[in-house]
Amino acid sequence: MENSWYKEMAVYQIWPRSFKDGNGDGIGDLYGVLDKLDYIKSIGVDAIWFSPLYPSPNADYGYDIADYKNISPEYGDLELFKKVLDGAHERGMRVFMDLVVNHTSDEHPWFKESLKGKDNPYHDYYIWRKGKGDKKPPNNWLSTFEGGAWEYNEELDEYYLHVFAKKQPDLNMDNPKVREEVKSIMRFWLDMGVDGFREDVITFISKAEGLPDGFPLPVATGIEHYKKGPHIHEYLREFREVLNDYDCFVVGESPMTGSKDALEFTAGEDRELDMMISFDHMQADCIMTDTIATPFSLRKMKKAFTHWQEDLYGKAWNALYIENHDHPRIINRYGSLKYRVESAKMLATMCYLQCGTPFVYQGQEIGMTNITLSSIDQFRDVVTFNNERLFKKFGFSDKKYLEIANRTSRENARTPVQWDNSQYAGFSTVEPWFYVNPNYTEINVADAEKDPNSILNYYRKLLKFRKEHKVAIYGDYKEHYKNSRSLYVYERNLDSQRLLVVSSFTEKHVQFEAPEGFDLSKGELVLSNYRMCPVTKNSFVTRPYETRVYLFDEV
Ligand code: GLC
Ligand code: CA
Repeated sequence: MENSWYKEMAVYQIWPRSFKDGNGDGIGDLYGVLDKLDYIKSIGVDAIWFSPLYPSPNADYGYDIADYKNISPEYGDLELFKKVLDGAHERGMRVFMDLVVNHTSDEHPWFKESLKGKDNPYHDYYIWRKGKGDKKPPNNWLSTFEGGAWEYNEELDEYYLHVFAKKQPDLNMDNPKVREEVKSIMRFWLDMGVDGFREDVITFISKAEGLPDGFPLPVATGIEHYKKGPHIHEYLREFREVLNDYDCFVVGESPMTGSKDALEFTAGEDRELDMMISFDHMQADCIMTDTIATPFSLRKMKKAFTHWQEDLYGKAWNALYIENHDHPRIINRYGSLKYRVESAKMLATMCYLQCGTPFVYQGQEIGMTNITLSSIDQFRDVVTFNNERLFKKFGFSDKKYLEIANRTSRENARTPVQWDNSQYAGFSTVEPWFYVNPNYTEINVADAEKDPNSILNYYRKLLKFRKEHKVAIYGDYKEHYKNSRSLYVYERNLDSQRLLVVSSFTEKHVQFEAPEGFDLSKGELVLSNYRMCPVTKNSFVTRPYETRVYLFDEV
């Protein structure tokens, strides 16, 4: 397998609004990031991915961009960004920007121009269509975020398409001028020294010809007509040509894409994307979206991971994550609040020792958990309000929906990072823009720094171990105990080295026998989340959420 820096790196994701407020207005910013660069580096990561830093009306907190070549005044300015970029580079960390080009904000100058008339050159930057007579939209598509996917404009007597919120009109990527704009945005940041992009819902950018009606669903009707549209590969290849002029990297976010489809984008020398952010393994406790919650199924999770591991091995490269700004905290989902510390370490181990590049989301490294809000008015996200309408339509009470939002909303990942146990968790000197989780008195970076057994210090050990062992990076993957509902066990092999990763997803005690061909007495226990780890006759009984990693040399 071809070696390369993006395979060996680990990435830290910053959602800037909640990372650290450096200028005392209650909103996270680049002053805060500059101040924390040493901390970020200390976790053992090699790159930072910034969720959008651009000027934005914040209808979708930055994923609605009003100016692609600038920094939001809430976060700083271009000069400050360059300082952060240089600071990261000086510390040996790369920097990736979030490139959101499926849509812009409706406050972007292109959209404002496009409203001026059908002859305006920017009109065709967006997807404008006539309705179907008697005030019916052009087709039956529904947005993922906000009711119908079409918004009517009286003056033009046309509708524009928005597959996300109303304030996020979709760009018309079939227009070559739009593609030139995308390339110019890429060059702008790459020329400044940025090292690559995370491309937001990038596989949605090509829409089916004629925009046909979609199969009716409660949300996102029509998605089959753009989740992998007719020109997707052509457009991504066009963008790749720009990227090829730089030593850079791209990871594409791709909802509803399976591991086999992923190969079309990520395999081979002339791949369009270096990796893909998949969703399959994030659906072990829900159906399609986090909101339709079901009990956690370990077997579902393992199946998803194993498909991606097996299908991509030797052909393409995985992005490994269990948290980001779009999902509730993983401890609440796949781990245990009662065994918070143990389960946080176990989850990191089972995920990041697979074959792929680790992505760590801010706060994950200290084991932050979901917040419980007491009324729907306290939420901020357009998605929470859209779901409220939907659930109410199906007869759910306020109380029941509040419970659902508390469990499933992505706002759980957007509470301010807990730096210490002072007021506002050391995130800001004034009241922050969003609620601080009251558990900051126990869960915070300052305390985690002092405790050698903290989750934070475990992340450091884990990422260091991965970096220092090629078998953890490049080794193959083979799963054991496939049918177990409590254990996740896999091995990795490279040349004469071998790893065995055993993780328990239960507080129950489970008898574990080493798989055939393994002699635990010959292995070195390199990572574990309990202090004493006895083995009897090549087997042991797992403790709650236990994880153990054995390394075998010269097999
Ligand atoms: C992606 C982003 C999410 C955003 C959406 C629309 O899924 O990760 O935060 O709301 O795209 O841009
Ligand atoms: Ca600020």
